[in-house]
Amino acid sequence: MSSVDPITSTRTLDIQGLRITLPGTARPVLDGVDLHVAAGETVALVGESGSGKTLTSRSALNLLPPGATVEGAVRVGGQDVLTMDADQLRALRTSTVAMIFQDPRAALNPLRRIGDFLVESVTLSGSTSRSDATARAVELLKAVGLGASALHKYPGQVSGGMLQRVMIAAALMGDPALLLADEPTTALDVTTQAEVIALLAELRERFGTGLLFVTHDLGLAAAISDRVYVMYAGRIVESGPGQALFAQPRHPYTTALLASTPRLEAPVGRLAAIEGQPPDLRQELNGCPFAARCPLATEVCDVQAPEPLQAPALPSHQAACHHTGRLEGRPVDA
Ligand SMILES: Nc1ncnc2c1ncn2[C@@H]1O[C@H](COP(=O)(O)OP(=O)(O)OP(=O)(O)O)[C@@H](O)[C@H]1O
Ligand SMILES: [Mg+2]
Repeated sequence: MSSVDPITSTRTLDIQGLRITLPGTARPVLDGVDLHVAAGETVALVGESGSGKTLTSRSALNLLPPGATVEGAVRVGGQDVLTMDADQLRALRTSTVAMIFQDPRAALNPLRRIGDFLVESVTLSGSTSRSDATARAVELLKAVGLGASALHKYPGQVSGGMLQRVMIAAALMGDPALLLADEPTTALDVTTQAEVIALLAELRERFGTGLLFVTHDLGLAAAISDRVYVMYAGRIVESGPGQALFAQPRHPYTTALLASTPRLEAPVGRLAAIEGQPPDLRQELNGCPFAARCPLATEVCDVQAPEPLQAPALPSHQAACHHTGRLEGRPVDA
């Protein structure tokens, strides 16, 4: 049995020192990740492909690759999911934490009606009656902008955007404390993306659900979330309120990410790609993971991993960089 920690139980999700090592690699794929989501808070996790965003979010369900060695703690409502038994894990995955996937069509059986999918997501465990579940499905279909008539439709009869709304309704069926949305809109066109994101924000407020939103897009992350975590090569390199990260990034990787993010007001064709590649998992790493690509890097960056450092003016804004003082216009050793 895992015990409840009174200090962290007010946090819907509390990941501390999460270190995951996969077979055949020289160093951990997640290396000391600290991340939390308070009740009702929207938190975005941003980073390049392969940085570890999906592994981090799936850790909240204890869904990790086979053979993974895991250290640290992942608490949901104060309970460590890494030490849960099979019954606790089932309850966690069917009611406490829900996940919205990138491709709704891949997650739905094309031969089952949408209504059956929604209802069975909560009745199979036996805790909810079919009539209660149907009433909840109708309420949620309305909340996501679809009528009760959607109950009788098959997935093939509705658009991708509508189907993602169905997935959001499905995720809310069990009244979860935490919603994980891993690039929920990348398969959709831009207009539908905006609608789905607005909907998530509205539902989060209405149902008081914590939301962890995974995206490549720092602009989107800053716009929709209370706080943003920037991940690079399995580590959190910067975190803080989205607007603070946008206005004054304190890690050179965040600066590079911002320069490579398309903005509506910027002329097309000005996007800067970040040169180089993230470090290979087959290689040991002693220093800062971004050193090889970083314009500010000095010798210390190759040999010593930087610890997260609070911004003098805003303690909730942290960056793990030896040279963050230079980005803030302060002397390096101030
Ligand atoms: N099941 C697995 N087996 C082996 N390696 C894995 C597995 N899942 C993830 N990895 C490795 O872990 C690293 C992080 O993967 P993860 O899927 O978390 O990245 P991500 O940030 O979500 O990337 P993307 O933006 O492409 O979705 C990658 O190097 C990936 O190759
Ligand atoms: Mg991913």
